[in-house]
Amino acid sequence: MALLLLGQIALGLWMIGLPKDGTGLRASWFNVHKSWGMVLGLLIVLRLAWALLRPRVAPLPQAPALQRAARGTHALLYALMLAMPLSGFLGSVYSGYPIRFFGLRLPTLAARWDGAKELLSSVHYWSAMALIGLIALHLAAFAYHQFVLREPLLQRMRAAPPR
Ligand code: HEM
Ligand code: HEM
Repeated sequence: MALLLLGQIALGLWMIGLPKDGTGLRASWFNVHKSWGMVLGLLIVLRLAWALLRPRVAPLPQAPALQRAARGTHALLYALMLAMPLSGFLGSVYSGYPIRFFGLRLPTLAARWDGAKELLSSVHYWSAMALIGLIALHLAAFAYHQFVLREPLLQRMRAAPPR
């Protein structure tokens, strides 16, 4: 999922630079982004449900402030992972263009509404920027715990939770 998400972010940033030259290249990459974005949205909801319903491994023993920082960052990562597909989808609904899911045209849910599209586009953009920053922080924290403090984080991810 991390790879899919990073690929989706890279695709989004790349495709917005494509020219509007009438060849359809820009539109077809937008459609790829929308289709995978909707798949990711569904996977993220499943991932979150799994994380909430499953018994949790006890947090690492560390200073309460660091524990709060880790919990807060993880919660924000989840919030942004939900905000991305939601703002992308709703923004596209109000754009007036039909949304295609891997070529299949989805029913039109609402008429074109430029104000809503603009607002949702900025939510999409700024959530992406925040997500990139938090992923960088998350990876730095991971590398610090795993390789500097030598705590067994990857093993924790596979560990059976307590019954
Ligand atoms: C797109 C990139 C990523 C996102 C959005 C992300 C998001 C998250 C979230 C939300 C959690 C909290 C899980 C929970 O407790 O419910 C988490 C935990 C964790 N992530 Fe990531 N992650 C990403 C990439 C990675 C990568 C590449 C690694 C390293 C291989 C990694 C290592 C970990 C570890 C070790 C934990 C568990 C921390 C603990 O021991 O409690 N993450 N991640
Ligand atoms: C996890 C899911 C998603 C991620 C990480 C993601 C990421 C991005 C990024 C980084 C950009 C470029 C920055 C920007 O202009 O906002 C972008 C643009 C865009 N995305 Fe997404 N996206 C996701 C889901 C979706 C979905 C589901 C749709 C529509 C169904 C969508 C539609 C768009 C559109 C139309 C743009 C062009 C800029 C605009 O009109 O707002 N995205 N996306």
